[in-house]
Amino acid sequence: MIKKLIIIKLGGGLITYKNSPTPRLKTKVLIEIVNQIKKLNYQGYSFVIIHGAGSFGHPLAKKYRINEGVSTEEQLHAAINIQLTMQQLSLIIANQFHKVGLNPQVIPTHCLVSQDNTQFKDFPTEIIKQTLTEKTIPILYGDVVMDRTTHFSIISGDTLVGYLAKQLKANQVIFLSDVDGVYNQDPKTHKQAQKFSIINDQNVNEILVNIKQNNPNDVSGEMAGKIKQIKKFLGGIEVGIASGLLKDNLSKAIHGRAGTKLKLN
Ligand code: IPE
Repeated sequence: MIKKLIIIKLGGGLITYKNSPTPRLKTKVLIEIVNQIKKLNYQGYSFVIIHGAGSFGHPLAKKYRINEGVSTEEQLHAAINIQLTMQQLSLIIANQFHKVGLNPQVIPTHCLVSQDNTQFKDFPTEIIKQTLTEKTIPILYGDVVMDRTTHFSIISGDTLVGYLAKQLKANQVIFLSDVDGVYNQDPKTHKQAQKFSIINDQNVNEILVNIKQNNPNDVSGEMAGKIKQIKKFLGGIEVGIASGLLKDNLSKAIHGRAGTKLKLN
């Protein structure tokens, strides 16, 4: 019996050097996280893994403006390059799972999903449910997919997380990145930044104001944006945002002892 189904998003900035112009993996970080997942899997937790792109996708996507779609030969060639590179990243990750004795199955997102005018709608999830029945670990990722209007477009791993969490009735979603939770300021540049341990319906508005006041020049409000996305797409589901760089932090985040815990309806 599945003890608890947890969807994990491995942020591209966590598992790759995201500022590298060419694909570059953080091998040690990956090994450490896979070892943590192995321990938890043996304790009875089931996982769906969704990983991001980091330097395996974003530099080319930006250079060729793939987020707007594909209309030239050059863009098409770049879009397929990203697809192939993402497949390679996913295989590297899956092989690490396999090496420690786990049974991952890579499910290339572009084989399951097509979009319309860069917008995601849905996709059938039977195959993913079946991987779980077989006690394997499905791995999906942010990808370049075919698009009925713009030929190709980008789907973020976060979009897959929101959709799958509802479809699979996941017990928990954990976003692992290189920052340990939601802070009122960017902790990388502000030593005095304060972390919110719990965000719920009672305190969310106050926290959004707090973040806004502390980041007056940040128009897009990256952190506030993330909270709003979680409220919109993961309402009702227990969500954790935590660092994947700290020892045993995944297990701590699952038990609400690290990062930020969000429960928004
Ligand atoms: C991006 O996926 C997909 C591509 C650019 C191909 P994500 O949005 O999930 O990736 P990260 O986590 O930001 O790197």
